[in-house]
Amino acid sequence: MTIPNDERIALEMKVNLAFSPAAPIDQRSLFAGRLQQITEIMDAVTQRGQHAIIFGERGVGKTSLANILNDLLKPICPRGLIVSKVNCDVTDTYSSIWKKVFGEIQVFHPKRGIGYSVKPSKERIDLVQLLGDEVSPDHVRHILSLIEPHIVVIIDEFDRVQNENTRTLLADTIKTLSDYTVQCTVVLVGVADSVDGLIREHLSVDRALMQVHMPRMSAEETHEIIEKGLQSVPMQIQNDALEYISLLSQGLPHYVHLLGQLSARRSLGSGRRTVQKDDVKAAISDAIHKAQQSILSAYHKATMSTRRETLYAQVLLACALAKVDSLGYFAASDVRDPMSQIMKRHYDIPAFARHLNDFCEAVRGPILQKTGIRRRFRFRFLNPLMQPYVVLQGLALNMIDEPFIQALAKTS
Ligand SMILES: Nc1ncnc2c1ncn2[C@@H]1O[C@H](COP(=O)(O)OP(=O)(O)O)[C@@H](O)[C@H]1O
Ligand SMILES: [Mg+2]
Repeated sequence: MTIPNDERIALEMKVNLAFSPAAPIDQRSLFAGRLQQITEIMDAVTQRGQHAIIFGERGVGKTSLANILNDLLKPICPRGLIVSKVNCDVTDTYSSIWKKVFGEIQVFHPKRGIGYSVKPSKERIDLVQLLGDEVSPDHVRHILSLIEPHIVVIIDEFDRVQNENTRTLLADTIKTLSDYTVQCTVVLVGVADSVDGLIREHLSVDRALMQVHMPRMSAEETHEIIEKGLQSVPMQIQNDALEYISLLSQGLPHYVHLLGQLSARRSLGSGRRTVQKDDVKAAISDAIHKAQQSILSAYHKATMSTRRETLYAQVLLACALAKVDSLGYFAASDVRDPMSQIMKRHYDIPAFARHLNDFCEAVRGPILQKTGIRRRFRFRFLNPLMQPYVVLQGLALNMIDEPFIQALAKTS
């Protein structure tokens, strides 16, 4: 069966639109899974004095959840809803964050015309001007309490704020908003293993802050992304293909979108509307070329070598296949088994200890981060998106094959 050229091109465009490996989701209809996190956020917004913090690894879908809050909350806010979402960067201070927040909010007050014939009009209130230069938590609370509809203030990439005083003041703000039960919900979003990492030493706000942890996605959630995407084209996918994408993605939705999109395009290229496992296999090399530039260059830096026997690519692959704890860390001893399997002979820690160290230094990255004490070091990938990429490279370079990772997935 073949698909006429014009139709195939139109379908390919639809596939491109159905998957978004590079951008956060911004519509409820494209958002998959995460029911528990949605419930937790809705709880926080509907309880007076409650605020929320969304935390988790990079790339798990925190911004996407924050983006759809507007769609989720509108139906349950009878007095109207205003959502102001801002991104932090390293230069931000307490006052620059609130200037951005209030710059996003448009509120109007009625202005009466002079004389009988002139209709009343509306005038925009400049909240940033109202804020002035001296910004304090009380001041922010006061302005927020003047606004009639429910306000949700989302402060994304909160982990990038360097200034400790800014974090303290934000914690104080949450506390004061909670104490005065202002109709406003602050949602902090950041990359962190735990909430303490994001608002160190400010656990006095604990009571007022709903902790919403975003773990990696379950297999069901990753399946939902692909099925939703393909339905909109419309195309279908066979079960083993669906499961293979899920396995390769390791719960990171970026790879689900990337492999979903590229496999569907491979399938169309072969004249089919049903994605098969061979399409996923063929899409692996496409995915390697289309990965984010930062990932490509970090992989290259870590593994480049003029000599074959240096084994950097193999050790990095063994790291990507090592068993990890709940925070993504592995020990050198966890690398031994996958390394021996990749090399098809026994390898012990001294044979790759130097490689692990180099991966933590500037010469080869750092691509791994190290924690703990000497002889008990634990490692993890600095960027979680690197780990599936290394496995894809391993498959493309024939260092491992599919049965190998299937077997490993079963034992972990
Ligand atoms: N619930 C979801 N459903 C579908 N795609 C998602 C979902 N969450 C995240 N994604 C996709 O995953 C990628 C990373 O999401 P993003 O929200 O930017 O993560 P984070 O903010 O945690 O780094 C994006 O390509 C986004 O489209
Ligand atoms: Mg984000």
